[in-house]
Amino acid sequence: MPTKRSTRRRPTRPRPLALARVYELLEPGPVVLLTTMAGDQPNVMTLSWHMMVDFEPPLVACVVSRNNFSYAALRRTKECVIAIPAAELARKVVGIGNVSGAKVDKFRVYGLTPLPAESVAAPLVAECFANLECRIVDTRLVRDYDLFVLEVVGAWRSGAKSTPITLHHNGRGHFSLDGHRFQLPSRKL
Ligand SMILES: Cc1cc2nc3c(=O)[nH]c(=O)nc-3n(C[C@H](O)[C@H](O)[C@H](O)COP(=O)(O)O)c2cc1C
Repeated sequence: MPTKRSTRRRPTRPRPLALARVYELLEPGPVVLLTTMAGDQPNVMTLSWHMMVDFEPPLVACVVSRNNFSYAALRRTKECVIAIPAAELARKVVGIGNVSGAKVDKFRVYGLTPLPAESVAAPLVAECFANLECRIVDTRLVRDYDLFVLEVVGAWRSGAKSTPITLHHNGRGHFSLDGHRFQLPSRKL
């Protein structure tokens, strides 16, 4: 009797991946803008290393490098805004992530509109579809990792689209857009 040949493909042998490229696989969530107040000057930087830490109050962990101008303002004021841009702002978002607020007024150069927030001095970004007012609640990992835990104390949505397409960073100037959305029943048994 002829045996049915398996159609299952042999898994290919994993290839080594440079450790420096691990983040490209795990990098979470949308690329965001983070605003701060440096004195009376609003500044904005691009940030993709962030993650949710708790539901409510919402806690978000962010790595803001000490090499960035934003770092000192964040440490001093203990406040910031996380503004979430839709994909249409991609070019501005990348530009903002490649120039320092120590040198230029990025709100002016990139044509973004700062709006007063309700609970923090850092501004909302009018062009972004969501803005999260944040306060630092934990700095224990700043010394070693430049990692701040922020509490979202106010959240705003703008625009008509309920599911704007967001931008995701895959490293080295590569980006992807939000893919196909679908729903599955997800309830703990
Ligand atoms: C796509 C992208 C993602 C970035 N993500 C981060 C990040 O998660 N943390 C960080 O410290 N810098 C990140 N940067 C770099 C800062 O945005 C960049 O150094 C910026 O110029 C800092 O601005 P500032 O000096 O005005 O604070 C990113 C840049 C780009 C282009």
